[in-house]
Amino acid sequence: MVEWVKVCKKDEIGQGEMYSFDHDDKMVLIANCNGKFYATDRICTHAEADLSTGFLNETNVTCPLHLSIFNLQDGKPQNLPAEKPLKTFNVKIEQNEIYIEV
Ligand code: FES
Repeated sequence: MVEWVKVCKKDEIGQGEMYSFDHDDKMVLIANCNGKFYATDRICTHAEADLSTGFLNETNVTCPLHLSIFNLQDGKPQNLPAEKPLKTFNVKIEQNEIYIEV
């Protein structure tokens, strides 16, 4: 079943920052890219590194382990060694709170 889950207040994630959020068995990465928020799986599809310890640049996150770059808008890897996309989650903002659809 699809549901919207509250993550945190919008101003808790500054521009260019990433935030880790866990819900049930999901490990989610939320990123503030120039004021727009994206949510994806937090675990790299290559060898399970935690992307929240990687590097955010515009709408891309670079895996800290083998440096694959993922586009946070569609989850797709931009370079090897990762080949599989990250799962992405819809994001909405209501009354200064961030929600993701899980
Ligand atoms: S673990 Fe992320 S690229 Fe290898």
